[in-house]
Amino acid sequence: MITNKVTAEPFRIKVVEPIKLISREERERKINEAGYNSFNLKSMDVYIDLLSDSGTSAMSDTQWAALMKGDEAYACCNNFWNLEKAVKDVLGYNYVVPTHQGRAAENVLFGTLIKKGDIIPFNMPFDTTNAHVEFNGGKAVNCVSDIAYDIQDLHPFKGNVDLDKLKSLIKKEGKDKIPFIMLTITNNAGGGQPVSLSNIKEVKEIASEYNIPLFLDAARSVENAFFIQQREKAYEKKSISEILKEQFSYADGCTFSCKKDPMVNIGGLIATNDAQLYNRLLPRLILFEGFKTYGGLAGRDLECMAQSLYEMTDEHNLANRVRQVEYLGNMLDEVGIQIIKPIGGHAVYVDASSFLPHIPRSEFPANTLEIELYIESGVRSKGGEFGFAGGKSLTMVRLAIPRRVYTDRHMEVVADGLRRVHERRNSIKGLKVVYEPPVLKHFLQRFERI
Ligand code: F0G
Repeated sequence: MITNKVTAEPFRIKVVEPIKLISREERERKINEAGYNSFNLKSMDVYIDLLSDSGTSAMSDTQWAALMKGDEAYACCNNFWNLEKAVKDVLGYNYVVPTHQGRAAENVLFGTLIKKGDIIPFNMPFDTTNAHVEFNGGKAVNCVSDIAYDIQDLHPFKGNVDLDKLKSLIKKEGKDKIPFIMLTITNNAGGGQPVSLSNIKEVKEIASEYNIPLFLDAARSVENAFFIQQREKAYEKKSISEILKEQFSYADGCTFSCKKDPMVNIGGLIATNDAQLYNRLLPRLILFEGFKTYGGLAGRDLECMAQSLYEMTDEHNLANRVRQVEYLGNMLDEVGIQIIKPIGGHAVYVDASSFLPHIPRSEFPANTLEIELYIESGVRSKGGEFGFAGGKSLTMVRLAIPRRVYTDRHMEVVADGLRRVHERRNSIKGLKVVYEPPVLKHFLQRFERI
């Protein structure tokens, strides 16, 4: 087990990518042209990019080397068998369906299993996950425990399911309306908070009692395993690999955006031990992604994903990553900026409502803070409503940290930028919407300053 003995990054830097800070006047102009939505900023105009930790991580030399082993045969390329073996070795599942990313896995799984009117209990779904449930005629219901909404509560597993909520939902809706239960580990929409192994086990017991399958949204399941090792007494002596496999052992399968913890730039998968389910998934896979042995990816991407699954459980890397996220969070906490605590695995979430209390929610305090941070220091983040389903929500700015990309010095620049915005916060005004689409609004919204 790794303790705080790790004092420096467990890697050397072999390749660098130059970044530059454009002037404040240019940043004012660029964010205006972007409709005050950081999704529309050109990457070349961003100094430090904390928009997402997805597909943005720095790959190892061995991951890059794996790309060179791509076998681009249309069917049954060599790389698929390596992926299949890695999924068996690391996740403990016999069947793998490759997809081009996480939401494609959701499309294939949900499109196969969900009927109109179905209910899917979650701890909390990510936004695209929620949208895929709805697109297939279902409704995702949050069963996360109430502490998830109390940003100051230091509970070690704020992604946990409230078992009573889950049981009463099943009783109310009836098991026939529930094709599966899904747990997001860690809970991105609720602040990157982990789910304990005892909670996963208890959810599995309830699921088995009603004969309902349980799936994991495993995008950050390795960071979840790290938190279990650090915070759940019974697991302090287990390796990350053992904990990871145990998590999957209680589930009937998973969807996995490999752009997160496995640190590939593109790729995702569904894995299961259920041969019947696997066969049911294939027609939809072929319709939307591609043949069962490539699923929307090149052979080289499959090889890279296989290599990544073996590398992602490296305990030094995980310890260093979680430490860096904490380093940023603690700097903000020290100057009185409210963040979700405990600090999550992949991101720091800043509470925009307490940062800009004079801006009502109807004037988008989180989006306002996102653009002020960009103007102040060239840092791209994302502001919005998190934990939206089920009535309650949090107005947050997420600072998502790509893995192995930025140094602690970059984190200091981010903290300094937010500190300076904080000092002038009383003079900041909100935003109004000038365009939004009917679904997944925050990706495409455009604003004007009030
Ligand atoms: N599940 C979770 C928990 C996610 O965080 C994401 C993506 C997905 C599924 C979908 O995966 O992007 O590969 O299609 N989250 C990214 C983010 C986009 O920035 O948090 P994808």
